[in-house]
Amino acid sequence: MSNATFDAIFSRRSCRAYTGKKVDDETVALLAKAALAAPSGNNAQPVNVIVVQNVPLILELEKAVVDYFIKTGNEPIIERLKSRKNKIFYNASTVFFLAVKNKSAADAGIMSAHLAIAATSLGLANIILGLPRMVFEDPDTASYWKEKLAFPEGCDYGLAVAVGYAADEGKPHEIDPEKLSYIK
Ligand SMILES: Cc1cc2nc3c(=O)[nH]c(=O)nc-3n(C[C@H](O)[C@H](O)[C@H](O)COP(=O)(O)O)c2cc1C
Repeated sequence: MSNATFDAIFSRRSCRAYTGKKVDDETVALLAKAALAAPSGNNAQPVNVIVVQNVPLILELEKAVVDYFIKTGNEPIIERLKSRKNKIFYNASTVFFLAVKNKSAADAGIMSAHLAIAATSLGLANIILGLPRMVFEDPDTASYWKEKLAFPEGCDYGLAVAVGYAADEGKPHEIDPEKLSYIK
């Protein structure tokens, strides 16, 4: 069976190396619309989408996230980040930040999946990012970053999705059949 939606779902993967080429405005607008079409509990639509294409700002945030983990001495993450050359956004120059009201993590998660699958369907590499959350929660830096990214009042970091052009090759993860059961 050939189906474009299933093709996108089954070919999606997290890309951790981008060429840096920006996604054009028309495509960004289409992806943002796909994000906003995501379902939410009670149709509360608690998620605001903020598209950042300002590379110096992305790099400043990247450094702040790495500095946070160094400051807190989180060795396993520090080591993991080192192995990824301290890259948080992996040289992507288009990042969709999902700012969420009422701590609606599920709604932000569902929106991030919409974005990831929509981007994949257009042939764009992407990755969902949770790590930047820390600097939006640390009392030392939260206000600064919420203001810098123009989070609406009362919004917290939900997730981010970096989108762009792959500079690496990778495969979707193996599906684990043990994770499936039926009760009939
Ligand atoms: C909620 C969530 C947060 C994630 N945060 C990060 C992150 O901050 N950095 C990162 O490199 N990958 C992050 N990932 C990507 C996962 O590591 C990745 O989805 C997982 O390894 C499976 O690989 P796949 O996406 O290629 O199938 C995140 C994924 C999800 C769903």
